[in-house]
Amino acid sequence: MRKFVIGLIAIVFLILVMDPKIIPTKVDAPLDISIEATAERIARGDYLANHVWVCMECHSQKNNQFYSDPVKPGTEGMGGLLFDSEFGQIYASNITPYEIDHWTDGELLLAITEGVNKNGDALFPFHPYTLYGKKDIEDVYSVIAYLRTLPSIQNDVPKRDTKLWANVLVRFMPKPATFIQKPDSSNTIDHGKYLSGVCARCHTPQINGKPDPDMFYAGGLDHPLSDTEIIRSSNLTPDMETGIGNKNKENFIGIFKAFDSEDSKMILIPKGARESNTPMAWTQFAGMTENDLGAIYDYLRTLPPIKNRVEKYGVK
Ligand code: HEC
Ligand code: HEC
Repeated sequence: MRKFVIGLIAIVFLILVMDPKIIPTKVDAPLDISIEATAERIARGDYLANHVWVCMECHSQKNNQFYSDPVKPGTEGMGGLLFDSEFGQIYASNITPYEIDHWTDGELLLAITEGVNKNGDALFPFHPYTLYGKKDIEDVYSVIAYLRTLPSIQNDVPKRDTKLWANVLVRFMPKPATFIQKPDSSNTIDHGKYLSGVCARCHTPQINGKPDPDMFYAGGLDHPLSDTEIIRSSNLTPDMETGIGNKNKENFIGIFKAFDSEDSKMILIPKGARESNTPMAWTQFAGMTENDLGAIYDYLRTLPPIKNRVEKYGVK
């Protein structure tokens, strides 16, 4: 009898947490909006989605025989990239009109910035909604306007196949967005801070899966390169010996701009030498303007210098 009662309670609990209609995730209802697709918005959205917020880095097919796995031209937004983790297998969604024609602007805004899709399912945080939910809503509108101009690519992405505990956990993660007004671009430090959000995600080491606030931008976060090898992100604090302290602005911009040509998107990785690759989306970030890259540099120079020598390659 006791076992039966415990079993019953467990089943009721699971039904409650699994069905978003019974206990809704703590996010807003989709806004009833209609985003006007001005030329200015489409251009801004293109720039953000491809070069700053790098949506296309995850939502496209990649040329993974080339250094830095550049996006395969013509696959922008089609989705299908597999994120294989302890949660299970999760595929980046198709975000071309083939899929999003069935979505309202409000539903897209909610998915991108609060992590809940049009069926009310919580998204796995591989999609960095907490980052986009702290940006200027006008910039998100621009990205949505741009997505609607993408060529429609007929690609049905496999449904995610995740563990039950992971589905329960993820249901409690979404939270309402807290949009801000983007700083004026003449204020280079604040402007650089605004643009650099995606960089911190990889360049800050973590404790228990959360960024370590005492090591903000100090580098050393592991990224798998192969089944046996890892690469660690660089220290971007202005420490003279172990960070970017001895790089001037031109050096910094130059590292990125070296990947701005068509040739630099076709640097073959020698066979059996995965260690010579990188998860850093050089070829995408290279499309940022020199002004914006310079602003990111100016912002990074204001961080407290942290001495942290990063050994770039390692084994798992
Ligand atoms: C680091 C990788 C990554 C980046 C960067 C990223 N996404 Fe995602 N996105 C994903 C993954 C993976 C999913 C699927 C998550 C899931 O199924 O739980 C997803 C889901 C979505 C969805 C939900 C679609 C659906 O059918 O449920 C939308 C919309 C979306 N992303 C748009 C964007 C936009 C726009 C950007 C840039 C502003 C972006 N994503 C950046 C990985 C990413
Ligand atoms: C997906 C994770 C990831 C993201 C996002 C990312 N980086 Fe990196 N970055 C790395 C890793 C790993 C390395 C070390 C390997 C390499 O040099 O390519 C690196 C290296 C660097 C270097 C060192 C290059 C050198 O030659 O010493 C700079 C500078 C840099 N990143 C800046 C940035 C900036 C600025 C952003 C945001 C616009 C950013 N990164 C976003 C992972 C990332």
